[in-house]
Amino acid sequence: MNRVKEKVAIVTGGANGIGKAICELLAEEGAWVLVADIEDEPGREMVRGIAKKGGRAEYFHADVSRREDAAAAVQKAVEQNGRIDILCNNAAYLGKSHAILESTDQEWDKCIKVALMGTHYFTKEALPYMIRQKKGSIVNVVSIQALAGMMTSVAYTATKAALLGYTLSAAYDYGPHNIRVNSLCPGPIQTRISAGPGEAHYKWQCDNTVLGRVGYPEEVAWAALFLASDEASYVTGVTLPVDGGWTSK
Ligand SMILES: NC(=O)c1ccc[n+]([C@@H]2O[C@H](COP(=O)([O-])OP(=O)(O)OC[C@H]3O[C@@H](n4cnc5c(N)ncnc54)[C@H](O)[C@@H]3O)[C@@H](O)[C@H]2O)c1
Repeated sequence: MNRVKEKVAIVTGGANGIGKAICELLAEEGAWVLVADIEDEPGREMVRGIAKKGGRAEYFHADVSRREDAAAAVQKAVEQNGRIDILCNNAAYLGKSHAILESTDQEWDKCIKVALMGTHYFTKEALPYMIRQKKGSIVNVVSIQALAGMMTSVAYTATKAALLGYTLSAAYDYGPHNIRVNSLCPGPIQTRISAGPGEAHYKWQCDNTVLGRVGYPEEVAWAALFLASDEASYVTGVTLPVDGGWTSK
């Protein structure tokens, strides 16, 4: 119940899927959570659900690809709590993906602006507070697509791979301030963007794991909670796959 008690957390893309599971678990474990997203209704609904269970969360409309939205979201969390302990950069552009020849500049732009620049904007805004506190944990939600080749998704894959470098660089530069920065790499996780049972892609995903199944958002959230919490006080700069063993083969 208290693994992140009294900590202040921001989760981007927290209204749905993996981000939602992370918000709910952080709140259940005692954190105050700012849910930053562009899908207002599911975001607000989720916050109401957290409140009903006695947790503390607030929804904030923020398009992570806009620097000013990131600044406003971080400001909101600081105004209410005076600090930021946990930042989980989870939002990504998850539109239709293509191989190199079919990929458009627009697709590249969106992938880079949301996942990479979004992570950068939020991190840049949160870091000064973490430096002042001499403590902080940043969890970047990446993907096993940064670790293993996969079909028709060059812009998404390249962006996610860039996030691994971003994580290492941030961990190196801000480790001396006791700020930990880690990457989580989910494998096939059942969310609204995923193939479902009966689809060929779903079977292909299950067959590619060692555990023989897809994962669930809560299973990524448990790993995010660990990295966010003081239990991971000596863990920084790591890439943690949560992928049923996909990348272990
Ligand atoms: N589902 C998977 O199989 C899987 C696998 C590997 C990695 N991931 C990663 O996990 C993360 C979450 O994916 P998901 O499956 O939960 O998807 P999802 O669509 O369920 O959730 C993504 C959330 O991000 C929000 N979002 C999108 N663009 C945004 C923006 N510009 N500003 C703010 N919020 C924005 C959406 O509104 C949504 O709430 C992504 O980074 C994705 O790349 C997912």
